[in-house]
Amino acid sequence: MTTQVLPRVEESSRRLASVYAPIAAELADCERIFEVELASRFPFVQKLVDHTNDFRGKRLRPALVLLTGQACGGLNSAHPTLAAVVEMIHTATLVHDDILDESDMRRHASTVNAEWGNETAVLMGDYLFTHAFHLAASLESTLACRWIGHATNLVCEGEMMQVHNRGNLALDEAAYFSIIRGKTAELTAVSCRLGAHYAGATPAVVDAMENYGRDLGVAFQIADDVLDLWGDEQSAGKSLGTDLEKQKLTLPIIRLLNTAPKPIADRVRRLLEHPGRDARQELRPFLEEAGTLEYAWQRAKDVANHAASLLDCLPESHAKTILRSLTQYVVRRSS
Ligand code: IPE
Ligand code: IPE
Ligand code: MG
Ligand code: MG
Repeated sequence: MTTQVLPRVEESSRRLASVYAPIAAELADCERIFEVELASRFPFVQKLVDHTNDFRGKRLRPALVLLTGQACGGLNSAHPTLAAVVEMIHTATLVHDDILDESDMRRHASTVNAEWGNETAVLMGDYLFTHAFHLAASLESTLACRWIGHATNLVCEGEMMQVHNRGNLALDEAAYFSIIRGKTAELTAVSCRLGAHYAGATPAVVDAMENYGRDLGVAFQIADDVLDLWGDEQSAGKSLGTDLEKQKLTLPIIRLLNTAPKPIADRVRRLLEHPGRDARQELRPFLEEAGTLEYAWQRAKDVANHAASLLDCLPESHAKTILRSLTQYVVRRSS
């Protein structure tokens, strides 16, 4: 069952390596800008920054800025800066998210909260947010700041709605989709919007790229939520099972509660009301029996396919092919 539902890790990383080939130089620029922007004169702050740099993630959002830019007319000096900005915002949300989820592993390393405590982690997240906007303000126009600010507002609202709905066993699919569109998809949407706009794309193409990024983010988060229930911590490199521990209802669970016969649904509700460390294992037979994982993968695939269709307005290019392949990658990843 597990191998059927989840992709193999080697397949996942091989796919990602090909994504970066055409944007390798600009991605390297992005990394340099990221490091220079965050450098601190205080050794303790620099140590925290180094931790962020030593354990890097997939760099999906910078890749989206650069690939959409390349697919929409070509990259210029603004693109690597924008790529660094969106990765900084993303990293900030992860540092804060790990406090909320009480996670101890991120990117195959200790979380900031586990290593240095919550107070430092709150401030490190703030440091990343403020530097992101400081860096965005170095661009000639204020437009990027404005768009990124708007997207970050919506990310924060999504996270707040998620916290507000903790333990709400009546959460429905519409509310779930609204939360993930905010907390995850707004940042992938604005990454693509920026990439396209700064490449000189027409407003219609900029909008199409934004919608591509939003769909991609939604599919990405559904897959992440399946991984939280079903994935392997060593492959994912982060703490899993925290959605259940924190009583955050995700698509497979919502589906289970909506479709299981009453005695099963009641039992699942009791489990969700008092989730222990073994909640993942205890829930799996019910999730399997009800076909909820396949259901969630299918929903993710449908959204990802819609994202792919939004690329039709672009001329054929290598970058476009990769953007298309990313819609497959996000629903097949294991980390
Ligand atoms: C994790 O994002 C948070 C979610 C939106 C699910 P990523 O899976 O892109 O994290 P990194 O950047 O690769 O660590
Ligand atoms: C994504 O939610 C968090 C943000 C978008 C900030 P998760 O809580 O599912 O992310 P992971 O699984 O910890 O990476
Ligand atoms: Mg989390
Ligand atoms: Mg998750």
